[in-house]
Amino acid sequence: MEFNTISVIGLGYIGLPTAAVIASRRKKVVGVDVNQHAVDTINKGEIHIVEPELDMIVHAAVKEGHLRATTSPEPADAFLIAVPTPFKAEGGNDHVPDLSYIEAASKAIAPVLNKGNLVILESTSPVGATERVAEVLAEARPDLTFPQSHGEDSDIRIAHCPERVLPGHVIRELVENDRVIGGMTERCSKAATALYKIFVEGECITTTARTAEMAKLTENSFRDVNIAFANELSIICDKLDINVWELIRLSNRHPRVNILQPGPGVGGHCIAVDPWFIVSETPDEARLIRAAREVNDGKPQWVIDKVNEAVGKFLSANPEKTAKEVSIACFGLAFKPDIDDLRESPALAITQKIAASNPGQTLIVEPNIEALPAGKLEGCTLVTADDALESADVVVLLVDHKPFKSIDPQQLEGCYLIDSRGIWAA
Ligand SMILES: NC(=O)c1ccc[n+]([C@@H]2O[C@H](COP(=O)([O-])OP(=O)(O)OC[C@H]3O[C@@H](n4cnc5c(N)ncnc54)[C@H](O)[C@@H]3O)[C@@H](O)[C@H]2O)c1
Repeated sequence: MEFNTISVIGLGYIGLPTAAVIASRRKKVVGVDVNQHAVDTINKGEIHIVEPELDMIVHAAVKEGHLRATTSPEPADAFLIAVPTPFKAEGGNDHVPDLSYIEAASKAIAPVLNKGNLVILESTSPVGATERVAEVLAEARPDLTFPQSHGEDSDIRIAHCPERVLPGHVIRELVENDRVIGGMTERCSKAATALYKIFVEGECITTTARTAEMAKLTENSFRDVNIAFANELSIICDKLDINVWELIRLSNRHPRVNILQPGPGVGGHCIAVDPWFIVSETPDEARLIRAAREVNDGKPQWVIDKVNEAVGKFLSANPEKTAKEVSIACFGLAFKPDIDDLRESPALAITQKIAASNPGQTLIVEPNIEALPAGKLEGCTLVTADDALESADVVVLLVDHKPFKSIDPQQLEGCYLIDSRGIWAA
């Protein structure tokens, strides 16, 4: 199958790098996004998101005429859908996936579909979402045939291919990672494999659409469950007065045991989200996966409770002081070490809650940012680690950024410490 024009629907953290990398292979790429600002920025050869190396690739692809962005779909040989899959806003804590973006994108491409086209869903999706795409397309185009009704003979090929790139390394991982490709039929899988071979150097492994959907959800649930085990251990050990870091080190001496490190909670937009896509479809069966989500979601409050306990201890030991005179320093705001990304960060959420309830001074140490995020941490001060340790009474370690690991233990003496990552308390 030949792909001369490829259309990528949704030009965000996944879609734009994918479009740019395909365009860098000298294919004609038409990027489609409902966000006019994103479209205008890309057509100027610039980018609206942060990802190393992406700006150069987009700039070159637009300048050489291989990549163009637009707000309305155009005919192409293949369509890759990379739109958001958040939770439904209504329903509060039900964590039900919202397929409306996928449905809207499918409806938008339906009028420009032609016989022989390939449609790939890349968005992280609950099982059955690819079949839903096929249904929406079939409803809109009764003049074409689809895999659900015509199998291998269908006019349109449809597949799911989940994305597993790591933010910050997207350009390299897009090319090097293996891809799981789930076609609605074998012919669909073959067509999708031919498309990915344009830019993927990793292995392309084919399966069914439903298995491919479940594979992505399984990978992130596996990680979530393992992190939850470590987090639960940390809470149990605290109660039993055992050093959890030493305990894990000792247990990991067993040749077949590899326990992860506890932390302040699970952040980011994949691990904390994707397991719910399994739970929401099979609530009675996914008991362990749900429990892991609950353990990890409960960890930030446990850290906050520990901070309040430390403040109480400090005040009992210093009866001449009032709560207003207690200074709390929070180390780290990012959602993981050595990056500046604060989105979905448990460290940020914990710091916000501490700051909101602390009548005294809240100091923040985050070496990866220049200023505190606007409107989110009123009354807090961004300071250096040295300044924080000079005046803080309670110190909370939330992210194991490299510079924090080399802090002289003497500087921590006399502070009440809550070390959620075990770099000082280990
Ligand atoms: N960001 C990651 O690290 C990552 C990793 C793996 C998988 N994913 C998955 O990939 C999907 C996309 O994630 P993202 O981070 O790129 O999201 P994003 O929010 O960065 O980008 C999505 C883009 O889609 C556009 N969009 C929304 N509806 C549209 C429509 N109907 N037509 C055209 N464009 C539309 C938005 O304007 C936005 O620019 C999600 O399902 C996500 O879970 C993301």
